[in-house]
Amino acid sequence: MKVIFVTGTDTGVGKTVISSAISAFFSLRKQMNVGVMKPFECGLSSTEGSLVPGDAIRLREASGSRDDLNIISPYTLESPVAPEVAAMLEHTDIDLSLVDKIFQNLKKSHDLLIIEGAGGIFVPIRKNVFFLDLIQKWNAPALVVSRLSVGTINHTLLTVHFLKKQGIKILGVVLNNTDGLDGVAAETNPEILNQYLDVPFLGIFPHVKDLLEASIDWELMAETLMRNINIEVLLNQ
Ligand SMILES: Nc1ncnc2c1ncn2[C@@H]1O[C@H](COP(=O)(O)OP(=O)(O)O)[C@@H](O)[C@H]1O
Ligand SMILES: [Mg+2]
Repeated sequence: MKVIFVTGTDTGVGKTVISSAISAFFSLRKQMNVGVMKPFECGLSSTEGSLVPGDAIRLREASGSRDDLNIISPYTLESPVAPEVAAMLEHTDIDLSLVDKIFQNLKKSHDLLIIEGAGGIFVPIRKNVFFLDLIQKWNAPALVVSRLSVGTINHTLLTVHFLKKQGIKILGVVLNNTDGLDGVAAETNPEILNQYLDVPFLGIFPHVKDLLEASIDWELMAETLMRNINIEVLLNQ
């Protein structure tokens, strides 16, 4: 059984896009039993008058998982802030042993478990506990999603170096073309990053118009991932 913890340099860099594309690829193309987890989802989406955990729903759809949403995402909080802050605002007590129990069960019941973090590695979950600690506790290999555009060299190297320093295995870095801009930064970033990274650079996920809109073509997502990202690395952990 394998685990991939998808983290990123920031919020909005495409963790959900990449996590769901990976889930769709291994489920649809490799016929694997894929499980997903978004342990903390903050900032719920409004759909037909009710608030729902959009990332957890996407991941579930992409993977074909039949697990309940409240297992996939045990803590869904309304406020679009870090879990520690959202939990405080919403008077919720975060029980990490519950999250851990769910993780262990999901790990047991799937061939591959894809976990999406929230924001980056130093986002606090509860007092003095960060996503970094969760990755470390679960001994989960990390995949780092980063923007293709300007600012990415600094953010990517900071994230990768810190994860390495903590002894966390890094599967690689994916640069995501979130906004579809092709300026000089987007043209030069992959090469310069590759030069400074001492972990695999897995490729650039292209901009796909209206990517996470209402109905998603998961076959297309799987195909886009396969054509642009070195996916073999994800399984040869
Ligand atoms: N490759 C891409 N092409 C087009 N839109 C993208 C791409 N990657 C991300 N987006 C859009 O950017 C936004 C943030 O992506 P998301 O995966 O939700 O980021 P995160 O999970 O890191 O917060 C979403 O609206 C998504 O549709
Ligand atoms: Mg997300």
